[in-house]
Amino acid sequence: MKTLLELITIEMRDAFVKAGYDEELAKVTLSNRPDLCEYQCNGAMAGAKRYQKAPFMIAEGVAAHLQDSEYFESVDVVKPGFINLKLAPQCVAAYLNEMSGEEKLGVEEESSPKMIMIDYGGPNVAKPLHVGHLRSAIIGESVKRIMRFKGNRVIGDIHLGDWGYQMGLIITELKKRRPELPYFDEDFDGEYPKEAPFTIGELEEIYPTASAYAKENEEYREEALHATYLLQNGYRGYRAVWDHIMNVSVTDLKKNYERLNVEFDLWKGEADAQKYIPDMVQMLKDKGFARYDEGALVVDVQEETDNKEVPPCMILKSDGAALYDTTDLATLVERERDYRPDEVIYVVDKRQEMHFTQVFRCAKKTGIVRPETDLQFLGFGTMNGKDGKPFKTREGGVMRLENLIREINEEMYKKIMDNRTVEDGEAERTAQIVGLAAVKYGDLSNQASKDYIFDVDRFTSFEGNTGPYILYTIVRIKSILAKYQENGGSLENLMMRPAENNYEKALMLQVLKFNDVFEAVYEETAPHKLCAYIYELANEFNKFYHETKILSEEDGQKRSGYIALLMLAKRVLETCIDLLGFEAPERM
Ligand code: ARG
Repeated sequence: MKTLLELITIEMRDAFVKAGYDEELAKVTLSNRPDLCEYQCNGAMAGAKRYQKAPFMIAEGVAAHLQDSEYFESVDVVKPGFINLKLAPQCVAAYLNEMSGEEKLGVEEESSPKMIMIDYGGPNVAKPLHVGHLRSAIIGESVKRIMRFKGNRVIGDIHLGDWGYQMGLIITELKKRRPELPYFDEDFDGEYPKEAPFTIGELEEIYPTASAYAKENEEYREEALHATYLLQNGYRGYRAVWDHIMNVSVTDLKKNYERLNVEFDLWKGEADAQKYIPDMVQMLKDKGFARYDEGALVVDVQEETDNKEVPPCMILKSDGAALYDTTDLATLVERERDYRPDEVIYVVDKRQEMHFTQVFRCAKKTGIVRPETDLQFLGFGTMNGKDGKPFKTREGGVMRLENLIREINEEMYKKIMDNRTVEDGEAERTAQIVGLAAVKYGDLSNQASKDYIFDVDRFTSFEGNTGPYILYTIVRIKSILAKYQENGGSLENLMMRPAENNYEKALMLQVLKFNDVFEAVYEETAPHKLCAYIYELANEFNKFYHETKILSEEDGQKRSGYIALLMLAKRVLETCIDLLGFEAPERM
């Protein structure tokens, strides 16, 4: 189904041509003066020079051909040459009725779907998840759902940090505590135990202890580095410990992400890329892309047009160890081999932008990806506390993700109990649902690249531009629909009717914009625009609700028309929050 902007642009083009002007001028946009009109066209101003005519004259000539259009209630020409449009209520109702019958509410799927991979989440195994990882998970999940809704084939890959120094530290600490384990016996050639030698709780304690100790003790640090090296070079006992670490942590990570409503299609990690490194390095050498620089193997990626230094991509350290650049390049080798993606989107802290510039350039230059592969860096800003500094705990430490979620849920629980609309038993689950919406909406309503302030009080408020306000609106609609049914009304085959007052029309117009807004959100990878849209939609609904007798409307046709509008508004809201990655409860 065409969006309304598309439909009226066709109408406008026709009028421009009939009036003797180029149809390229007939660009229609949403009005930036909603008090004056709903849509507008400024093409007459753009054509003035070319046609040596006053814009007002051009606009009048065009408007004359729109007077009979069934789309518009009014077409006004305003100085210097704006064409201001108001839609006919009849046309709005007809469009909405058609939209109701569409599974995707009027969004047209991509005619040639793309294969898109999204690299997001990126937690580091055996290290606690912190708030930085929260943003990647929230934004990445929403981007994935948006791309998918448009009909693309999308694969989300968590890209675990599972191959670094933290693994060497854990191995070293475990060896110190329990040297008798077979993993540390060089002569052991039997089968290693199936059971891990630690629980997740112990593992969470081992890493910080080892990390702190390594900072003070040089010898221990060396040993951990060596253990990392041995692990990466396939030493059997350490590989077995690594397997245990992975099993225990991944189980825990899955639980954490499930709670966030974040779902990955692939649970690959840096370790999976290892097997592609030797051939890749050989290729880089054979084709003359790589050179040695003080013992390290590097690929230059500086370009003439750069106005700042872009350091070479580091492929191997002088001791032969692989680096962050190396695993990301080898991961692209693997992705190219297994999926041949049209696009790869990395949702990572914007402070890593240089790393990705280097990796992307190197991958393109050396043919690791095809020239047409679109590599995108979607860098996000920092989540700050109210003091404007990176978010910390009350004690000043790095905030762990689960603690943050717990804090929000407790706050939500209090509010929900105060409201007294849900039973005790249900309140906890409701608090989780609403709490998640508070966190996600608080994050996504900001443009991703910007820093933002994490404010528990503001995010959990039921009023203002917040997740709970959106959910509250949905819950309110649900309750009206339920009452309508209790009174014997059926929700089948209801039709919207032309609006009779401004509140109703404003709500209808806002619902009708959904597919146009979605296109912009999709084109610009901009979930924050979806948030802005539903905030306005919720506002329009609430104004309508306060001004209109809905259930007590006596005219049955009018009443069922309202109900049809509410059902559609609810579907649009629910679709949008699903695209943002959260859901609404039944009551709150
Ligand atoms: N594990 C990394 C970190 O915590 C993020 C990984 C981002 N993705 C990537 N392909 N490098 O900083």
